[in-house]
Amino acid sequence: LMNQSPAEFMRPTTRTRGTSNAKTNGVGVQVEDTRICVVMVGLPARGKSLIAQKVVRYLGWLSITAKCFNVGNYRRTATPQPNAAFFDTSNKEGERLRKAAAEAAVADMVKWFKKPDNLIAILDATNSTKARRRWIKERCDAEGIESLFVESKCDDEDIIMSNILEVKTTSPDYQGQDPEEAAKDFRERIKMYERVYETLDEDEADMTYCKIIDVGAQVIINRIQDYLQSRVVYYLMNLHIKPRSIWISRHGESMYNLSGQIGGDADLSTRGEMYAKALPDLVKQSAGDLPLTVWTSTLKRTAQTARYLPYEKLSWKALDELDSGVCDGLTYAEIAQNYPEDFKARDDDKYNYRYLGGESYRDVVIRLEPIIMELERSENILIVTHQAVLRCIYAYFMGSPQDKSPWMEVPLHTLIKLTPRAYKTEEERMFANIPAVSTFREKGSKAQHQETESSTRRNSPMISGEAKA
Ligand code: F6P
Repeated sequence: LMNQSPAEFMRPTTRTRGTSNAKTNGVGVQVEDTRICVVMVGLPARGKSLIAQKVVRYLGWLSITAKCFNVGNYRRTATPQPNAAFFDTSNKEGERLRKAAAEAAVADMVKWFKKPDNLIAILDATNSTKARRRWIKERCDAEGIESLFVESKCDDEDIIMSNILEVKTTSPDYQGQDPEEAAKDFRERIKMYERVYETLDEDEADMTYCKIIDVGAQVIINRIQDYLQSRVVYYLMNLHIKPRSIWISRHGESMYNLSGQIGGDADLSTRGEMYAKALPDLVKQSAGDLPLTVWTSTLKRTAQTARYLPYEKLSWKALDELDSGVCDGLTYAEIAQNYPEDFKARDDDKYNYRYLGGESYRDVVIRLEPIIMELERSENILIVTHQAVLRCIYAYFMGSPQDKSPWMEVPLHTLIKLTPRAYKTEEERMFANIPAVSTFREKGSKAQHQETESSTRRNSPMISGEAKA
């Protein structure tokens, strides 16, 4: 079961025209009766918030509604910027306010679960004592909600240090404060927690848990009960919380791009070849001397784009462009003319529309799931792929909604760097300044293609926050 990708459950034996019918959830299994509260456990600076955010985005990407309840956010309404003494367990007022914040978060979560589509909540807090965990389990039991405790236990000083650095610069608890003072106070806070911290152990053998030790060097799982729990745990087992980035680029301009045809397996155009030659420098500017692995699809245009990159390369069938079935090789204008109903149906619901004999964006997400799993296991990766596939990968990292992600503009000859952080994914775009046609067609528009402005834009790295939902 653990090795089975959702693709096996989802992929239809025959492909039919129009919208796919797998709308209930992305994993194609019965999940209606399962509601799970994933309870994070661990000292501060152990990557809990990063893990929690990632689980929410991963599940959302697979069409499973999930939401994170961050107890710190509840605590901040009464105590926006506490110092370490607030977290001392002998501080009675601090204790009272912290318990009140946990209760408010759990109460909101229970309310949230009343909506039938809401399946997985993440309770993001330290939950560092057995008493606190027992209390959460009992609250969940009383509501018929399964509880799955996920502990991140890590003694690696480098990782803790990099998390401290991250927290002191990005946590609202320390906003506007001197970074050195913030780091010092945060270390004090960790000490307060260390005094009372109890790791998950045999006293809690009746609980469902997953204990991740030293960033996955060892994983202990206990009493995993059903399919959805095992999927979450499988994902967690592949995660690591070491800092790293992912670079994504479309292939260089292809001969099909020039003629406005979709799909196919065309060679690069002259300008596409120029991009391939420029790519090593562009990557070097952004990644420096970091070790990188390059992933391409099995189609010629991605291999040709990657060929001058001085890194190890791997080609994946799962990275091939969205299969446009009977429309493969046509221009958008020809599709509009030959298949007008399909052309409109795709505009109406681009995420779910499946080309006759081909795929939908939803299908691509399902086949990309093993890629995402492998990406999570890996460190710095550069992916050279195609427009639709890149949009799906981007949506996973940025949490973009399904009605928006298929319409995202990703110009040719542009390198995108994504860096997952505890509270957001950072994005930076680098332009190669090599002109190319635009393959972007706006919703409801006629089927033109033209030179893009953005691909000739001057290099101006842009950092944006998390995807605008
Ligand atoms: O035009 C380039 C291309 O990669 C086609 O091969 C593919 O069908 C298309 O983009 C996907 O983009 P959209 O989903 O916007 O049609």
